[in-house]
Amino acid sequence: MGFGRLGGALALGLQRAGWPVSVFTRSGASLRSAVAHGLRIADQEDLASAAAVFLSVPDDAVASAAALVAADLGRHTALVHCAGALPLSVLGAHGERPLGSLHPLSALSARTDPLEGRAAALSATSPALLELLRAAARDLGLRTFSVPEAGRAAYHAGAVLAAGGLVALASAAVEALAEAGVDAPEALDALLPLMRSALDGVEARGLSAGLTGPIARGDTKVVQSHLAALPRELLPLYRTLSLRGVDLARARLPPERTDALDALLRR
Ligand SMILES: NC(=O)c1ccc[n+]([C@@H]2O[C@H](COP(=O)([O-])OP(=O)(O)OC[C@H]3O[C@@H](n4cnc5c(N)ncnc54)[C@H](OP(=O)(O)O)[C@@H]3O)[C@@H](O)[C@H]2O)c1
Repeated sequence: MGFGRLGGALALGLQRAGWPVSVFTRSGASLRSAVAHGLRIADQEDLASAAAVFLSVPDDAVASAAALVAADLGRHTALVHCAGALPLSVLGAHGERPLGSLHPLSALSARTDPLEGRAAALSATSPALLELLRAAARDLGLRTFSVPEAGRAAYHAGAVLAAGGLVALASAAVEALAEAGVDAPEALDALLPLMRSALDGVEARGLSAGLTGPIARGDTKVVQSHLAALPRELLPLYRTLSLRGVDLARARLPPERTDALDALLRR
């Protein structure tokens, strides 16, 4: 249910992997797009006979979507949401019906964006549903892990820092280059490969050994020049991220260097 960015990626990926998928759409535009992608449109019989119904609707519509389809579901049809921050209880009380969640850690800005190679957090109230979600994730190219129900909001906050936070960080870096006279499209073109190379370093060597730049070198003079040059509104972000960097650099630098950086950044 829902043929948006994630619903589209799930439906198209599962269909490619040979799963029998049909989609339930709200608007005519989504319906036409689903048909154009070769997907079947779900009818009431599909809801009654499906092994699982995935609710890929905005987080604040999950509870009402679950209530809307509940009466048409088969007795054993599982109900699954895809929202990282929401507990299973948002799906409502359904007696014996298996309830679950499949949340891919992927930033999808279009329904044709790939899911392969990403991770997904799974939870389920029955072993059979967990098995079905694992099989779906495997066929989508997702590796899986689980998150305790009580920790979902913190888990999702971390995911948002890593995805939306990275985009916001790119925008702050573009603004810093604008201060130096580099225009925005050129700045973004230059910064994206740099950001990817930083992530490649972390992937290859871990967080501490993957850290580069003046913090990793313990260079207070360069950090001081940055603090003097940056626009005022970027300073809190620069200070916060650099202090995290100092913590990562502690394993590699003499304590007098990290103490000097720490003091400078807190001044
Ligand atoms: N996008 C991501 O990167 C991503 C990653 C992981 C998890 N998720 C989760 O996936 C879920 C969907 O997010 P999304 O990004 O795919 O959203 P989206 O692109 O905005 O798509 C939402 C879909 O839900 C439909 N819809 C909206 N309100 C509805 C309602 N009240 N009742 C029924 N259908 C409704 C929309 O229909 P129309 O097309 O007809 O407007 C649309 O097809 C959310 O729980 C989100 O947390 C998203």
